[in-house]
Amino acid sequence: MSLDVLLGLQWGDEGKGKVVDYLSKQYDLVARFQGGPNAGHTLEFDNKKHVLHQIPSGIFSNNSLNIIGNGVVLDPVIFKNEIEKIELKFGLTLFDNLFISNKVQLITPSHRFIDKILEKEKGDKKIGSTLRGIGPTYQDKIGRHGLRVGDIKYDNFKNKYERQKEMHSYLFKDINLEEFNSEEKQFFDSINFLKKFNLTDTEYLINKNLNKGKSVLAEGAQGTLLDIDFGSYPFVTSSNTTTAGACIGLGVSPKKVEKVYGVFKAYCTRVGKGPFPTELFDKEGEKIAKKGNEFGSTTGRARRCGWLDLLALKYAVMLNGVTELFMMKADVLSGFDKVFLCTKYLFEGKEIDYFPSTIGDSTIEPIYESFDGWKNDISECKEKSDFPIELINYIKFIENNLKIPIKLVSVGPDRNQTVLV
Ligand code: GDP
Ligand code: IMO
Ligand code: MG
Repeated sequence: MSLDVLLGLQWGDEGKGKVVDYLSKQYDLVARFQGGPNAGHTLEFDNKKHVLHQIPSGIFSNNSLNIIGNGVVLDPVIFKNEIEKIELKFGLTLFDNLFISNKVQLITPSHRFIDKILEKEKGDKKIGSTLRGIGPTYQDKIGRHGLRVGDIKYDNFKNKYERQKEMHSYLFKDINLEEFNSEEKQFFDSINFLKKFNLTDTEYLINKNLNKGKSVLAEGAQGTLLDIDFGSYPFVTSSNTTTAGACIGLGVSPKKVEKVYGVFKAYCTRVGKGPFPTELFDKEGEKIAKKGNEFGSTTGRARRCGWLDLLALKYAVMLNGVTELFMMKADVLSGFDKVFLCTKYLFEGKEIDYFPSTIGDSTIEPIYESFDGWKNDISECKEKSDFPIELINYIKFIENNLKIPIKLVSVGPDRNQTVLV
């Protein structure tokens, strides 16, 4: 019986989808616990590339049940598109092995609308939201006027929907309800589609399976530095992306958590606005972006790139209780003469070795250690002994600094380009 949690340690897009897919054959259940279609998790296998937004990344494993847990926010229209695409591309029907919590909050057309007007109103203080309605939906959950998946089973759902819409037009006087009326037909068609799935109290399903000795992998979305409490607020998402979020978002006791897999890129990226101490604005940054194909999986926006930030990583390891580290995209750093790791910041004129909460309000400068880069292409490496010594030194330095072992190194986007070390 174990609940293992896999999550991102940076600003998202660390490669979580790839590793969840890789590990899923070892787990009986794979469960998403927070976030919504702001996520874009990319899987590659058999020369096919596929991006998932709402569905857990265990969906291509034959032996695992997939769960969308109560902590998630779900857009029924995006969900329907995603299911239909998978059916068309892979010939898979997902009605039997996908379970959705009755307590999942629904993203409605007006949530997306409000997301857009609030973001526009921020002017140059924009967060860079994916505009998928995430913030307004979580706001309604906490404000206690959200709509939940379980509600769609009852005849009064349309009334509840209308009440929420009225409340939105009351709070947001500028909303012109007519503007999203056209989206409502699609919304209600997708609600009918959603009814065909297993809508249940997934906290029972998960706990019963754990008690029977089954294994569960919880799949995080976004990353630790986008956590609503601990991220670089306000440039964050609206959920708890950390290990504790997995317990809340699935209804499982913290006592049941065993392994915590912390996924990070060999460098850093960030999409959207907000502080990013090691961001590069030069040719090196461009080179990482180009080699790493750093464009958002959800919005297609260019991702900002920079060197690996060990202070930020140490903070994320602490918050999550990481037991194993997975380093992704090591192949992208092949061919650099020197690679750099940030080990300290110069913050308000002083050297510090922690991640300050006011990171966005002051100037912050990274202090680096430099390493010889690895020249060879490593994308065909199968085991650690195939790695160049420079990469081994880089790995050792990170392990010594964080005091957590790196157990997996990813050397390419394909499922097979994964080295256990
Ligand atoms: P997620 O949101 O954490 O699942 O990550 P994304 O899918 O948004 O972004 C990761 C990107 O890097 C995707 O395009 C992956 O296919 C790709 N990727 C994952 N691992 C590796 C790797 O080791 N090397 C390279 N070159 N690409 C990778
Ligand atoms: P995955 O799961 C990277 C970022 C957005 C924005 C901020 C708030 O693929 O790693 P939101 O849409 O939540 O209101 O946006 O968070 N963001 C992500 N960045 N990867 C993600 O997900 C993200 N989900 C949200 O760019 O800065
Ligand atoms: Mg992503």
